[in-house]
Amino acid sequence: MKISVIGCGYLGAVHAASMAKLGHEVVGIDVDAGKVAALNAGTPPFYEPGLRAVLAAARKRGSLTFSTDIADVAGAVVHFVAVGTPQRKDSDAADLHYVDAAFEALLPHLRSGDLVVGKSTVPVGTASRLDLLLRSAVPEASLAWNPEFLREGFAVKDTVAPDRLVYGVPGGNHGDRAVALLDEIYANALARKTPRLVVDFATAELVKVAANAFLATKISFINAMAEVAEATGADVTLLADAIGYDRRIGRKFLNSGLGFGGGCLPKDIRAFRAHAEELGVGDSVAFLGEVDAINLRCRDRMVDLTFDALGGDVRGKRVAILGLAFKPKSDDVRDAPALAVAARLMAAGAIVVATDPAALETARLVLPELQLVASAGEAVTGADVVLLLTEWKEYRHLAPSALDTVASRSILDGRNCLPREVWEGAGWRYRSLGRP
Ligand code: UDX
Repeated sequence: MKISVIGCGYLGAVHAASMAKLGHEVVGIDVDAGKVAALNAGTPPFYEPGLRAVLAAARKRGSLTFSTDIADVAGAVVHFVAVGTPQRKDSDAADLHYVDAAFEALLPHLRSGDLVVGKSTVPVGTASRLDLLLRSAVPEASLAWNPEFLREGFAVKDTVAPDRLVYGVPGGNHGDRAVALLDEIYANALARKTPRLVVDFATAELVKVAANAFLATKISFINAMAEVAEATGADVTLLADAIGYDRRIGRKFLNSGLGFGGGCLPKDIRAFRAHAEELGVGDSVAFLGEVDAINLRCRDRMVDLTFDALGGDVRGKRVAILGLAFKPKSDDVRDAPALAVAARLMAAGAIVVATDPAALETARLVLPELQLVASAGEAVTGADVVLLLTEWKEYRHLAPSALDTVASRSILDGRNCLPREVWEGAGWRYRSLGRP
């Protein structure tokens, strides 16, 4: 099928490449000429395992092109809108202006029978509003909302083989046609019996924010337990293992430490709360304010732990940070807990030297004054304390002897991911959040 994808960021670029991998003919549209040029040259504009190979294969087949000209959607039958919905600068609500702009740009190029598919995470009510707009401009075009659940670092896999498909569609013929077209696009996943739920617009929009709110709540729950563990002498990692064996609870997303960041979870729970207030059901999700507060406290606790490890004064002390991305296998530093900790320690007078396997360039743009080096060995040389803040495999498997150039053998494990016995056995002082 001929497909267009509007917006080629973390979501859209992966979606466009994955649709081409599934055999469709795809054009990706973005306003950023640099990004478009990179994608056309087969270079992913961000770090995402597997994306380069998928781009290369699609280019070889000639089934994937990128353009800055929206008129190039001509000929496509299905148009995915995958632009960002960041947090507004003046409030917690979602900023919908990229979605609105994408729709407005797309409308003049739509033909009767086309299907527009929203993938962006939006507040409930957005799809109905855009459906009216669409039908008044092109009466025989339809809208569907098809939320995306991909995780950065696994984005290609999650797009090609999702664990479920959710189609938000209107009633009547428009809905039937939307379902038929989406079934054709996702034929591969459906053949593998991937669950597919056909729902109304509001449910589809809500599924996405509810899923992210649940995940955020699970992480903040275990980080709240870490605070209690610290006050009682208990060990939160053993607690997580023990409750995780209960299948109703499950061990996934119970990793305690520095908490969540990234371009989705933090802004989605804030936007959800803001929208619920507008709807008059603010009390129903008021707990998400607490989820956010617990999460932000993880960063404070990490800074406190660093002060503690350095005897109460960080001024002039050398702090090495391993990991800046909001999670491993990503170069994304949006709302990254590690960068927040680095900024606070620098503001308090510490000399901070940081490294990351993928996020040096993105980190430099956000925090230019942070001293960045290419390797863990360089970062820790002369360090008074080492902070592990993103659990990259490279760092989880480090041998203590690899960091022997430190000034003081003191390591703070911000993700509870290092084998404590190994580090203590090698003469290091090991400390982490939520463990005695
Ligand atoms: C998330 C959702 O998982 C995905 O379904 C949605 O489409 C977009 O938002 P992503 O932002 O890529 O995906 O990251 P995710 O793997 O969910 O991790 C989010 C954050 O939580 C990271 O900062 C991670 O370090 C943190 N986290 C995750 C924990 O602190 N503990 C855990 O146990 C799991």
